[in-house]
Amino acid sequence: MSHPSLQAFIADCRERASRHAQPALAVEAIAPAMHAFTRDAERFLKPEHYRADPGHYARNAIYIAPEQDLSLFALVWSPGQWTPIHDHGSWGVVSVLRGTLHERSYVRTDHGQSTDTGIDLVPGGVFLLDPGTVTSFVPNPDHIHRTGVPDDGAQVVSLHLYGRNMDSFHIYDFDARSRRRVNVAHNES
Ligand SMILES: [Fe+2]
Repeated sequence: MSHPSLQAFIADCRERASRHAQPALAVEAIAPAMHAFTRDAERFLKPEHYRADPGHYARNAIYIAPEQDLSLFALVWSPGQWTPIHDHGSWGVVSVLRGTLHERSYVRTDHGQSTDTGIDLVPGGVFLLDPGTVTSFVPNPDHIHRTGVPDDGAQVVSLHLYGRNMDSFHIYDFDARSRRRVNVAHNES
């Protein structure tokens, strides 16, 4: 499986997603395409997709569908930069291009998925994702995690394909047992 262009990869992912109404089946179908594309992705990405930000991890938009039903971002993480604990409200397929991305997962145990308070989170372990690795998530129940790079790590570049325009998500306050929806910024290409 090879993709002659970024546009071909996105079209291929859109076609694979369109075949499956169930998010879990959509990410199963897309993951091999992401895996193959990741080997060649550096050929297709432009310098603006590698922008870092000294203040926080950088979200560089590669593609946002006019229909708002698909988006692809390159995220650039400098050492010590982490997301807050968050969910996605969408399916997603993620791969690593450079460095080792750390993912710390959380399991929601209060049996609520739609409430914003009374949230019980239990730490669910850690994954270290090296270049070439593909991982995914689905909503309902949503995947809750934080990702980033430890202080003594090296810069990470990762690719994130979502089943919507990922312009907002819930962030969780572990101690307050609550969450709130926030808009998240990105750099345009
Ligand atoms: Fe995430």
